[in-house]
Amino acid sequence: MSVELKIEAARAALTLVRDGMRLGIGTGSTADEFIRLLADKVKDGLQITGVPTSIKTKNLCEELGIPLSTLEVMPELDLVIDGADEVDAEFQLIKGGGGALLREKIVAHASKAMAVIADESKLVDTLGAFPLPIEVNKFGLAATHTAISTVASKLGLSGEISLRGGEVSPFETDGGHLILDASFGHIPDASALSKELLEIPGVVEHGLFLGYAKVVFLASPDGVKQLGHL
Ligand code: 5RP
Repeated sequence: MSVELKIEAARAALTLVRDGMRLGIGTGSTADEFIRLLADKVKDGLQITGVPTSIKTKNLCEELGIPLSTLEVMPELDLVIDGADEVDAEFQLIKGGGGALLREKIVAHASKAMAVIADESKLVDTLGAFPLPIEVNKFGLAATHTAISTVASKLGLSGEISLRGGEVSPFETDGGHLILDASFGHIPDASALSKELLEIPGVVEHGLFLGYAKVVFLASPDGVKQLGHL
């Protein structure tokens, strides 16, 4: 996805932001472009209070002078604007490519609405080509890994489930957890998988965002398409 498309999707989503809004602010490279555009508007006088979905987003917002609060002070938000790794026609999402899925989902749940910013390549018929990030507790990692494989088999899903690495391996989330990326290839019944995963005690959260997104801004070289509305 080119930076230009990320900027265009972010610019389109900015039209939803109104004075006085309590705004959840997403994580990722598309969300970063949104933050830059939002900061310009704030400099021009827009009054919003942001709640960031990761330490990385918090740092960028602070650097650019966006006023921030927390869910402790502000437990209900008007809107969250965030990126996604995959979106289907029912606005079901896979998120967590950047590892911030837990805070992103907590913020989305606290928000009246969620708007997604992405390019058209993120729109899929069936979720799952992007490996599903599953945030897990460090304790009992092997047992949790096995339990996830068992659930997957029960639902007819297969594929490698690998511990996320990175510059510092294993990758550790803002909450101090680990991520298992599940390469299922396709997830025909995301609700069933969600329910089963959340029954595993070692699973902290997963990257299936079901029933959150109300609007999707999809950028392509022909322009930005808005799907859905607030
Ligand atoms: C981070 C996320 C991101 O929103 C998702 O990975 C999309 O990122 P990008 O805009 O860089 O493609 O869920 O946890």
